[in-house]
Amino acid sequence: MVSPDNGVKIAPSILAADFSRLGEAVEEAEAGGADYVHVDVMDGRFVPNLTFGPQMVRDLRRRTDLPLDVHLMAWDTNRLVDELIDAGANIVTVHVEAAIQLHEVVQRIRSKGARPGVALSPGTPVSAVQEVLQDVDLVLVMSVNPGFGGQSFIPATLGKIERMRSVLDSRGLKAELEVDGGINLSTANGAASAGASVLVAGSAVFGAGCSVAEAIAGIRAAAAGEAA
Ligand code: DX5
Ligand code: ZN
Repeated sequence: MVSPDNGVKIAPSILAADFSRLGEAVEEAEAGGADYVHVDVMDGRFVPNLTFGPQMVRDLRRRTDLPLDVHLMAWDTNRLVDELIDAGANIVTVHVEAAIQLHEVVQRIRSKGARPGVALSPGTPVSAVQEVLQDVDLVLVMSVNPGFGGQSFIPATLGKIERMRSVLDSRGLKAELEVDGGINLSTANGAASAGASVLVAGSAVFGAGCSVAEAIAGIRAAAAGEAA
């Protein structure tokens, strides 16, 4: 399935999949029309949860041709970005709250051949990334506090998505605007209408009670304002 040019991209988060069968989950996502595979790397310190690292990225790389969209939630940003890119990450998104030298790490991600992204937790204002927006390919606005899947979308983040969209457009920047957390059939349209161009969805894809393909199609339709 090919996503429509004017529609949002869908990035299933494997955080919500069964960790004992992540290879199959990635293959189901690709067969089901996903645009990216969203990989949440958590260190148990920047966020309370602990997930996986470069070796998992390396192993998943062999299971899909989709871009691996790695969302790094870790204090040791500088070391991990190099290892994640070497392992096959296509997009590496670092948190502004964790990156000590944000500009430097963004440049390094690009110089190593990956697409840099910058993420903002819900309490972080749009202005925090103002000085690197021209250098990134993706801005990730968190719509839950990072750390866990299955949380409820924070409605106040809609205003932040709108403000980020407005800043990007007014500066003529083409960075993708990714929204992550609590995206489901009820919230996808609001996020897309506010300006998101990529929607991450974990539990709404891998815990939906239908096939991964049906779940992705449903979120895509909901984002476009169509009945599933
Ligand atoms: C949370 C992660 C998300 C998470 C989203 O820290 O960044 O990517 O997997 O899960 P859902 O879609 O279930 O909110
Ligand atoms: Zn994420």
